[in-house]
Amino acid sequence: MSVAVRTAVFPVAGRGTRFLPATKAVPKEMLPIVDKPLIQYAVEEALEAGAERLVFITHSSKRAIEDHFDVDPDLERSLEESGKAELLLTLRSILPKNVSCVFIRQGQPLGLGHAVLCAEPAVGREPFFVHLPDDLIRARPGCLAQMAADFAEHGDNLLAVEEVPREKTSSYGIVAVDRQMRLQQIVEKPDPEQAPSTLAVVGRYLLKPRIFDKLRMTGRGAGGEIQITDAIADLMEEQTVRAFRFDGTRYDCGSKLGYVQATLDYALQDPAIAAGLRLPG
Ligand code: G1P
Repeated sequence: MSVAVRTAVFPVAGRGTRFLPATKAVPKEMLPIVDKPLIQYAVEEALEAGAERLVFITHSSKRAIEDHFDVDPDLERSLEESGKAELLLTLRSILPKNVSCVFIRQGQPLGLGHAVLCAEPAVGREPFFVHLPDDLIRARPGCLAQMAADFAEHGDNLLAVEEVPREKTSSYGIVAVDRQMRLQQIVEKPDPEQAPSTLAVVGRYLLKPRIFDKLRMTGRGAGGEIQITDAIADLMEEQTVRAFRFDGTRYDCGSKLGYVQATLDYALQDPAIAAGLRLPG
């Protein structure tokens, strides 16, 4: 039995202090990689994977995200009048007509687990994606589409993972898995000497709705926040949760280095820009 995943949740309430002053008045998810904001890469990946309902868990400082996915008749009219057909098409294709957006405010900064729980009324009792736009993944098909294909076949909860250097374990949820990649353990941001492996969760999850029941019972964990990692540790006692090695390249756009690397790589993919970027000799 294969169940389509129709809903994608984007937790975007965090302030992005690492990018201040750039993110003082602009949400970090609106920072562009070449000419597209991070949140649009995120949405395109979810749409490609079959999502039709996009749920943004947001904050009052993030209104620009809502505006980005809204229609702008004035801008469309002026592009039309000045004969800029290609730009008009770019604007109109930001969001297909059959897709709906739901914006839910996360009133208090209680963590990623809390953000996901805020999405429950919009998701209902269905499987759903969680996408963290800071983790940009260049992949074909996209990472969520790869996960959706696996889910259609096996029906397990899935967490995207990749190997990280041991000194970086304290920035991630770290998992221990068996030969079939079934989770045996998951720990949020362990110190390198305590980490059960170097396999890190990156920002893509495909979860069944039972996670909401677990989240409701999850107290504050690492950093005093309600962690999705702790709810997954509970879930794994009851349902299979598998680590999913995706095929693609991830950029940690929550860090300056990752953001610049992504910008350069995406620019080099565009022949018109790449030609001008190459250093002589
Ligand atoms: C969150 C999760 C962590 C995961 C990471 C992926 O942490 O809590 O388990 O490994 O995303 O980017 P954050 O980066 O929000 O601190």
